[in-house]
Amino acid sequence: MERRAPRPSSPKWPGGDARRSIALGLPSPLAPAYNPSFLDLSSTEGRVKRIKAIYPGSFDPPTNGHLDLIERGSKIFDELVVAILRNPEKDPLFSVADRRKMLEAMTSGLDNVSVDTFAGLTVDYALRVEARAILRGIRAISDYEYELQMALMNRKLQPGLETVFMMPAEKYSYISSRLVREVAQLGGSIECLVPDLVERKLREKMDVALKFENGEQPAGKTRSEGKSKSRKKKA
Ligand SMILES: Nc1ncnc2c1ncn2[C@@H]1O[C@H](COP(=O)(O)OP(=O)(O)O)[C@@H](O)[C@H]1O
Ligand SMILES: [Mg+2]
Repeated sequence: MERRAPRPSSPKWPGGDARRSIALGLPSPLAPAYNPSFLDLSSTEGRVKRIKAIYPGSFDPPTNGHLDLIERGSKIFDELVVAILRNPEKDPLFSVADRRKMLEAMTSGLDNVSVDTFAGLTVDYALRVEARAILRGIRAISDYEYELQMALMNRKLQPGLETVFMMPAEKYSYISSRLVREVAQLGGSIECLVPDLVERKLREKMDVALKFENGEQPAGKTRSEGKSKSRKKKA
């Protein structure tokens, strides 16, 4: 008869006592992958350890929905980095520098929020800046599938990093950067959808595009700034 190999016991098997510890409510000896340190309440200071999170996205342009999420995130995380993805394959309406300026102005009143840019894998960036969580927003069920897929992929790539989903206030739950761009490009009102400074920047862009289409060469503007109408198909 075949003999079963004896089940390895701790300490040979790291984390072998985990289930017993969890059942007894003791601090778990599990590896960080299963015991994210930001959920470890056993800090010697008697409080949750400092948690740094990143909020990655395109923010083209940043909206009131993004801002709502940033404000919520800044309340539960000790530090929040709004991280603009530099994606050379996308044809954005706003340059990364413009988006950064807008986000910096929007978050200037939030002490624990900073703005940065990154390229490549989100998990690599998170690791580089020593963040322990990725903040993402879920507006409706339609966001869920994609966000879940991405969160699980990121977990596969970096098991110690947690994705935290937050919901915006209902009044912002229908706002997306893509819709804001489309409405602005078609001359609709984007009041209440984006902060005032973003609205102004969008209007400037649209004016430049309009002048360009009317054959005028707007003073001090480059040709590439006048091509925003053609983006519509890609939105
Ligand atoms: N109105 C909103 N309310 C809450 N979250 C939002 C809103 N708009 C976008 N988000 C969330 O912000 C994050 C960044 O979105 P976005 O700027 O579109 O970049 P991405 O290209 O990563 O989708 C995503 O998690 C998205 O679901
Ligand atoms: Mg999006």
